[in-house]
Amino acid sequence: MTKKADKTAKNSLKAVPEIDNQPSSEVAPSPALEVVHRPGLEKVVAVRSTISCVDGDKGVLEYRGINVADLVRYSSFEETIFLLLYNHLPNEREMMQFNTLIAKQRGLPASVRDAISSYPVGMHPINAMQSAIILLSGEDFYADDVSSPQHNIRRCISLIAKAPTIIAAFERARHGEQPMPAVTKYTLAENFIFMLTGEPCPPEIGRFFDKLLILHAEHTMNASTFAARVIGSTHGSVYSAISGAVGALSGPLHGGANERVLRMLYSIGHPDNVDKFLDEMIMTKTKIMGIGHRVYNVKDPRAVLIQDFMKNLLEIVPGEGRKNLYRTALMLEEKSKERLSHKGLHPNVDFYSGIVLDALGVPGDLFTPVFAISRVAGWCAHWLEQIGANRLFRPLQEYIGDHKRPCIPIEDR
Ligand code: COA
Repeated sequence: MTKKADKTAKNSLKAVPEIDNQPSSEVAPSPALEVVHRPGLEKVVAVRSTISCVDGDKGVLEYRGINVADLVRYSSFEETIFLLLYNHLPNEREMMQFNTLIAKQRGLPASVRDAISSYPVGMHPINAMQSAIILLSGEDFYADDVSSPQHNIRRCISLIAKAPTIIAAFERARHGEQPMPAVTKYTLAENFIFMLTGEPCPPEIGRFFDKLLILHAEHTMNASTFAARVIGSTHGSVYSAISGAVGALSGPLHGGANERVLRMLYSIGHPDNVDKFLDEMIMTKTKIMGIGHRVYNVKDPRAVLIQDFMKNLLEIVPGEGRKNLYRTALMLEEKSKERLSHKGLHPNVDFYSGIVLDALGVPGDLFTPVFAISRVAGWCAHWLEQIGANRLFRPLQEYIGDHKRPCIPIEDR
């Protein structure tokens, strides 16, 4: 770390409160270990955590014990980040300090900004994000030293603040435009829209986007969070953990579904075409994007909450095309319910989020990166929790291959 960077780090640390979010280390002794194979680790408890909780039968999601519906109603994305990192909602003074800290950390180092501007324009933005996050480690001389809780949380805040800047910079670079400088007076949501479009974000639009970010910030032991924790368990840096998590999120069975939902709805085109579409999907056993979830047996509460505010959003961002899209989605939900709910399949968070992002003017291939911008907060909370009470992840495999095969020299094969 240069002297200047070191001084900046120390100064910014003054405002960072101590973390008190570790689960109790007094855990009950494990019963005798039974060796089992559960594909996809279904119903395997991989960690003990205090960060979030899902009741898959009642359709309830809590962050640090607070119902996410209440956070959407009464809180902000910044408060939610604070809650996830520090295990309590901030008071006004803490919020002010935290906002200042986040705002100061929004800018990217020149090395990363330059690298982003040289990425291939055909690169998917989620891959650009993964790459830029690991590049940030190059500006943190002690990136691999995870021994200081103060430095660890500072790095988390910095990554949370920089994630939107990375995506906005890549979006502009691939269109041959210079990145917009971050504006400290804007909220994280408003600032992202500003950096993306170059236009100030109307506050009511910022508020809708803020709600969406709250709803994507955390979701227990999903594939990407697990990836972050596995990397954390090796004492891998936060940059490795978060870029690994972004990679895990990118797939269509996880965060990559939102982008595909919108494409699917456009391809259906009209509510009248839903029956034919469903016939085909069911006959060919093709998965419908935005439907189904490993832990919810009911409709995902985030889908319910998104739908609640989406109606209001569609009032202020009119457009017959979008209303048609929404009506098509509603019809698809209704018809899927008739034909698939017996399998416990219901809309998940991605089913309606794409319509909201589309209405907010976000391009389709930025939907998953936007999900990631928000989820960095949850991943960071998990990385901190993991390294705070660590045990290396090292599951077993069941070997089902051959034994004692001869090794024949190449000339005799
Ligand atoms: N559309 C149609 N059928 C689906 C389905 C979907 N989206 N999701 C699951 N199913 C069916 C499977 O075909 C299987 O049917 P079968 O028992 O007759 O073979 C059954 O439901 C169980 O599916 P499985 O893939 O084993 O469940 P899972 O718990 O592993 O899957 C998801 C969870 C999320 C991976 C899965 O529902 C899915 O792929 N959904 C679409 C992608 C998506 O929206 N991802 C975002 C998740 S937030």
